Amino acid sequence: MRTAATRAIQFISIGIFLLMTFAISPASAQSAPTVSGADVYQKRCARCHDEGVSRAPARQVLQTMSAGRILRTLDFGLMMAVAYPMKREERVAVANFLGTPGEDAPPAPKNPCAAGVAPLSAASAPGWAGWSPSASNTRFQSADQAGLNMTQVRRLKLKWAYGFAGDVTSFAAPAILDGTLFIGSAGGLVQALDAKTGCVHWTFQANGPVRAAILPVRKGSSYSLVFGDLIGWVYALDAKSGKLSWKKRLEEHEAARLTGSAVSLDGVVFIPAASWEETRSTDPQYECCTFRGSVTALRVRDGSQVWKSYLVDPPQKTGVNGVGVAQWGPSGAPVWSSPTIDLKRGLLYVTTGDNYSVPATSTSDAVIALNLKTGRIVWTQQALANDAYTSACRTKGVNCPSTNGPDYDFGSSALLVRAPNGKEILVAGQKSGLVHAFDPDAKGKLLWETRVGTGGINGGVQWGMASDGQKVYAAVSDVSAVMNTAGPVGGATFDPVKGGGLTALHLENGAKAWFAASHPCDPPKPGCSPGQSAALALIPGVVFSPSLDGHIRAFSTEDGEMVWDFDTATDFSTVNGVPGKGGSIDGAGPVIVDGMVYVNSGYPRNGGMPGNVLLAFGAE
Ligand code: HEC
Repeated sequence: MRTAATRAIQFISIGIFLLMTFAISPASAQSAPTVSGADVYQKRCARCHDEGVSRAPARQVLQTMSAGRILRTLDFGLMMAVAYPMKREERVAVANFLGTPGEDAPPAPKNPCAAGVAPLSAASAPGWAGWSPSASNTRFQSADQAGLNMTQVRRLKLKWAYGFAGDVTSFAAPAILDGTLFIGSAGGLVQALDAKTGCVHWTFQANGPVRAAILPVRKGSSYSLVFGDLIGWVYALDAKSGKLSWKKRLEEHEAARLTGSAVSLDGVVFIPAASWEETRSTDPQYECCTFRGSVTALRVRDGSQVWKSYLVDPPQKTGVNGVGVAQWGPSGAPVWSSPTIDLKRGLLYVTTGDNYSVPATSTSDAVIALNLKTGRIVWTQQALANDAYTSACRTKGVNCPSTNGPDYDFGSSALLVRAPNGKEILVAGQKSGLVHAFDPDAKGKLLWETRVGTGGINGGVQWGMASDGQKVYAAVSDVSAVMNTAGPVGGATFDPVKGGGLTALHLENGAKAWFAASHPCDPPKPGCSPGQSAALALIPGVVFSPSLDGHIRAFSTEDGEMVWDFDTATDFSTVNGVPGKGGSIDGAGPVIVDGMVYVNSGYPRNGGMPGNVLLAFGAE
């Protein structure tokens, strides 16, 4: 089976992958090393694809698709909800069993850039490199770099739309350098586009979906682009050509996923790791749980490791679950978001998610300061203790740990910001709906804490706040969903009225400055929620907050008055000729550079509206 898999899907180097998995992961060491694609099909697919379930293409139709395409459908396409409990090897086995060997040729772009227009040709143009314009993660763009003011924001119009072929999700964060926009996609295609026109310079096919922002790191006269994908690979590409310099797996664990964007310092990149184990655990046969959150420092030059820091100790067997399957702990404390660099104190801050199993650790739901040079943990400040949770808890499954949540991860970065009183503070928003301020000069001592939402498993504060050094702006998801497991995609019906809201807090003391209420879905439609889960972005005077209802809205930072609103949940004709559709906005959020605002639209995960576009707005 291993050789067959290698033959059929060479592009994911599965041979090495399985070897590493079986040699090292304690969970896998217990399970049989071979998986039959036919068995997986019978167990997980046949009931719909052999039985003529409405809209499900028949098995014969699936057999005309490439194995690579079927695998992506399971990883981040229409079948992602069906595939949640499936391990990597099962996905690969069923994709090979069904599909034609290999991969589809990437579609030739219909809009290549003209011969004279090269990547990075607008040297020293404004930019947004990585998750935030700077490694303090405030997502604040200066007036100079933004090239936009309040008057122009009121007049923003769509300039171009780009469509991600074959995708139903658009969740990747754009990065912009010297006139070129770099962005990943759910299908794993990474593209370099002209930031003003959307013409295509080059594309690169990654092994898995890419949602982390792409980080340019200077290398001689050019740049290396560093990013991770959702199945655990890290890449460095040459920014001008899109050619691969190196790639490697960051973690041997089969369920590793890289969601948080990297940051860099002096030729070293710091890459956080999270995982899929929470959803794997909905399968009672899954040995929950063995993934350990981590941060790894790699040399940009060749990908060699400087240090690696795990945030929980190696898991030990702790017993068996209700159906006799082994249980392991501690586990979890994943890092979902981009680390924050504090040059002055020589520290790298990360925020963590929950534990997946007991015993719970002091490093879950925490802000952790690591030594930049060694990765050693200098201090840990936990916001919530004893939070062990998996998705099995939603259905009272056997892999739900005894603590049963509440699943209040930090999903977003800590912001390092100087308050108007001159004091530097670290501000972090949690899925609990709390915003916390920590003191970087006193081992992260809590300075203040303010509630901005009710919180929940989908947030609370989800993907990111923003700060201009006066206030911190925190939007909340607070989606209210009725779970329904019938549909292949998504799995929830949202309340069209409940959720969302944007709060501005004073940095000195966390007191509320203003609150902008959310907008109920009008009219209510499937997949629509007023939740504001996506990250915010900020320029002087204006804060942008997208919503699961498909709108992107801009608010005055003075009083929260809405100054601009655009509904993306509609069809678009795209510059690259791919049929374009907008939907819920979640994940990355807007990026603002040189008179333009870029935003992704389409997010069916958790039940939102699907879509496949990147939209670029400019003032008339
Ligand atoms: C609960 C029913 C159900 C199960 C179980 C299911 N599917 Fe599907 N599948 C569907 C439906 C319905 C569609 C069509 C969705 C649409 O077009 O909106 C579909 C579509 C697909 C497609 C085409 C996607 C595309 O992008 O066009 C693939 C490939 C696929 N399924 C593979 C699988 C595999 C592999 C499994 C098992 C691991 C599986 N499905 C299990 C219902 C199911």
